[in-house]
This record gives sequence, structure tokens and C-alpha cells, in this order.
Amino acid sequence: MKPGSARATGTIAARMPWTSRYPELGTGPLPVEPIISPALFEQERTKIFKRVWLNVGRVEEIANPGDYKVKRLDVARTSAILVRRPGGEICAFHNICPHRGNKVIPESGNETFGRARANLLTCRFHGWVFETAGAVRSIPREEAFADLHKACFGLRPIACEVWEGFIFVNLAAEPEQSLTDYLGGFGEHFSGYPYGESTARYKYSAVLNCNWKVSLHAFSEGYHVSTIHSGTSPNLMRFEHKDFRLFGPHSTSAFFVLPIAGLEPSPASALFREVLHRSERHRPRLHEIPPTMNHERRTDFLFEFPVIFPNMLLHLSAGNGYPGMTYFTHHFWPLSVGQTLWEGTNYFRPPESASERIAIAHTTAYHRNGWLEDTSTMEDTHAALSSGVLEEIVLMDEEIMIRNTHHHWDRYMRAA
Ligand code: FES
Ligand SMILES: [Fe+2]
Repeated sequence: MKPGSARATGTIAARMPWTSRYPELGTGPLPVEPIISPALFEQERTKIFKRVWLNVGRVEEIANPGDYKVKRLDVARTSAILVRRPGGEICAFHNICPHRGNKVIPESGNETFGRARANLLTCRFHGWVFETAGAVRSIPREEAFADLHKACFGLRPIACEVWEGFIFVNLAAEPEQSLTDYLGGFGEHFSGYPYGESTARYKYSAVLNCNWKVSLHAFSEGYHVSTIHSGTSPNLMRFEHKDFRLFGPHSTSAFFVLPIAGLEPSPASALFREVLHRSERHRPRLHEIPPTMNHERRTDFLFEFPVIFPNMLLHLSAGNGYPGMTYFTHHFWPLSVGQTLWEGTNYFRPPESASERIAIAHTTAYHRNGWLEDTSTMEDTHAALSSGVLEEIVLMDEEIMIRNTHHHWDRYMRAA
């Protein structure tokens, strides 16, 4: 019998009720080659990452006119400058000077923040000055250049749009779709939550020795929770993962935790939870989640659990999951076929007292411990898959979001 073939009784529809709703996905195994092939990784750069909308930040990160963020996008071999204009608009440019190609803004790591004084950006190499709309304002010793048409020497623009305060860029010269069209029904499903009120951010990142899809896939399913998270979350050993919905390349689901009698949080966790749940700002506010989510308004709702193609997750819990946390995100940035920059960011409404600040730090540290459990598998998975021993991997029903991501990865990769 071939690995993964059915031994269980019952129809596919009975064993895989979610997957069966989307027959275009099939129920077969997935190939390993997309995870370990250097040639396919090179194709992903142009066929996916230079073609789709990518979330590169939040509007609160560049709240004031002149504020900028430079985000490295190694997969596209560029960096994006995101800058807020005096009128509030956010523009994006490649961080490259049209004079001789230096970086206009020196970068210090994966993300660099600063402010454009007088809404001007100056290249430090020879002092060319650019407006935050991109046009070149002044060129030292301009008269010494031959036939320089200044209008042609502005910063090279990147398409940039904002959805619910999330800043997206598209590196195509002319994006095929608007961001609204790209997100489609997913954008509607997640719209309306006051994301912008959660201005307190706590971010973790790590470079993992695995393909970006190994990391993405591991965070796209709850099948591992009972085993991988038995250390931090023994009370998660009973859970429910349901309400799977696909929106083209994007997908979503809902995650519920079923309490187990006798398993209580530690005294410290209980104390900090009480601190946050007493606060009007930090208590669970299930009524704030969009109406299409958790429509039964179950109080054991942990979070809405989606994948935004190609490399983002956005878990919305409105404070009902991890104490005080309103939502959190994951990003998976490819560095090479076997290396990924993973970023996990927790969002809270800002604390108003020392006790709230400590309680939020506790939630964040608890969540970090869970993420350490998650990331502990990824390098092993990649190393083992790289052996070539397996040609395929198999998925159970509730791993359907991986199946959908792969289905659309394949569609993009086959496109001319
Ligand atoms: S490279 Fe920027 S001013 Fe010369
Ligand atoms: Fe996990």
C-alpha cells in the first residue's frame, strides 16, 4: 500500500469534510521538490514575490509626516523605502539612488526607521536630495552633468497600497490587480476590526535554516498543537480547528480551545490574566471581531487563523485568546532556498499602568515560548526533506490551508 493511501473506512467526504468542499485542491500528496529545489527558488523570486502584494508594515510604524521605514526584501534583491508624505499619503520607493546606485538610506538590518527632515531624503554619497514624493529636488554641481533631465532621475517608485492599516507593496512594474482585488473576499472577512488601536507591538524574529514554505506550512495548521505545544500549553490538548474558508490563494479558519477540568494556568499566568481582563482596554472584546468570524460568538474562541498568500498570517483574537493580545502576525521572508527570516509580532492596546505593562510582557513571553516550540521542528524538517528520501508529503483534512497555498503556488509558478 502506498504511503498515505486510505486504510480508514468511510468515504473521503466523511474523513476529509473540509478538503472535500474544495475538489479543485484534490486529496493527494504534495511534492517535496518545491521546498528543496534551488532552481524553483530562483523562479519564485519573479513568478511570485515580484508579482503579488506583500505586507511590509503597519501605518502606525510611520505615523508622522516624514517618518520612513526601510524594509529589506532579499527575495527580490531590493529594499523598499516606505515614507509618509505631508498630506498623510504613504509612498514606496526602491532604496537606490539614480545617480550611481548607492542606497539612499543606509540600512541597519532587516528594518530601518528614521525621519526625513523637511520631508527630504538625501543620499549620503554625493548629496542628491529627493522629495518624499520621489522627485529629485537638488543635485550638487548639477551644471557639471551633460544633458541631465532631472524629471528622469527621481527615486524609482514601488506600487504601494494600504488595507486596514497594513501597508502592502507590489514590485511589478504594473501590478495585475489592485490590493483590494488581490485580497478579494479575504479582505472583506477581516475588515472592520480596530487594528489601529493596538499600537503596542512586541516583535520576535529569527533566521531559520529552512525553506520559507517549511516555516509557513508549520504555522498553517493546528495538527501539531497537542504534541509540539504540550510543554507550554497542556490545556490546548483539546481544541477544535474548523470553519475553513478559501478566498482564492488566501484562506482562513477558526481555532477554539476546549478547557480541560483540573488544568489551570500557573499562579503567575492567572494573576496577569486577571490584571488584563479587569481592564476595559485589554479585556476580551469578542463583539469587535468582524461578523463573519466566530458567528456563534463562542467564548472559547482562541483566534481566527488565516494564511495571506504568499507569506503572511494574521491571527485575530480581540483579546479573547492570549490575555490582552488583540492580534498577531507572522511573516516568512525567503533568504535562500534553505534560509528564511521569520518575524512574529504581537499587538496590544498600549498599557496604562506598570502592572498592565508587566502582564503584557508575560503574555508576550508565554507566546514566545510557544513559538520556540513551533520553530524547533523547522530546521529538522528542511534537513530531512533535503535528503531526497521523500518525494512527497501527505496532508490530513485540517492541513487544508497548506494544500490551498500549494495549489496557488503551483498556479503562479506555471504562469508564463
Ligand atoms: S550615489 Fe547617490 S548621490 Fe551619488
Ligand atoms: Fe504552533
